[in-house]
Amino acid sequence: MSQNQARIIDGKALAAAIRKEVADECERMVGAGLRRPKLCVIIVGENPASKVYVRNKRKACEDCGIDSVTVELPEDTSGEELLDTVNRMNADSGVDGILVQLPLPKGLDEEEIIAAISPEKDVDCFHPSNVGKVYIGNPVFLPCTPAGIVELLKYAGVELCGKRCVVVGRSNIVGKPVAALLMAENATVTIAHSKTTDLKSVTREADILVAAIGKAKFFNSEYIKPGAAVIDVGMDRDEDGRLCGDVDFEDAVSVCGPITPVPGGVGPMTVAMLMKNTLKAAKLHLT
Ligand code: GUN
Repeated sequence: MSQNQARIIDGKALAAAIRKEVADECERMVGAGLRRPKLCVIIVGENPASKVYVRNKRKACEDCGIDSVTVELPEDTSGEELLDTVNRMNADSGVDGILVQLPLPKGLDEEEIIAAISPEKDVDCFHPSNVGKVYIGNPVFLPCTPAGIVELLKYAGVELCGKRCVVVGRSNIVGKPVAALLMAENATVTIAHSKTTDLKSVTREADILVAAIGKAKFFNSEYIKPGAAVIDVGMDRDEDGRLCGDVDFEDAVSVCGPITPVPGGVGPMTVAMLMKNTLKAAKLHLT
């Protein structure tokens, strides 16, 4: 008999609730005679996954009553041309948030481009000054995917204070910043990665496992402590080309506690937190 205590954390439902809050606040602003918040999304090239993400962001803006503009630049755009576009958006007082979809085509320097975005418009929270503010505990914006993860855990009633979190993955977008946010919640945080020796013994210590390693269905039940909360940040393809996460969901549910599905877990929360940041940026520009 399987003692299945797993509860699926519905990221879609939580994201919808957050988007509704943002939409209500946008309507309140418009009712008070203010303009709508506006997000500028810049995409360079033809990466199919990036195109889907950008379309989802545009749809979310429509849903929330946020104005949006998508700037689509060709694959062979030069660094100078891209910087010009970013600078134009920095200077446009009608634009509150700027997001450059990553990855950029080869030859473009992501670090240089991100650093060119005005920190007050950096709704991804990728600019080094905003990253630093997150680390010192004085954030302007919260990084979208990491903040979405913390919201999901709170929504599921998972205690963070004093608990052991293991984050597997050390990217600038997910691994490093989610560790900072979990630490700010008084969790005890370990960052592991693909080179960690005896990864299983590390993850089995976790009350909360954040899987962000980018390998399809990598984490089975052997990696998971019974009853642990599991957050799956993976956006991978299985052997049949279907979207799946870093966690072997079917196997993991036999031992874990609350778990996020893919799709319908972390993904929708990233977009919802982006909407929240865009609203925040608009308010910053009003004051
Ligand atoms: N590529 C993958 N995730 C993200 C994200 O959250 N923001 C941007 N700008 N690019 C990404």
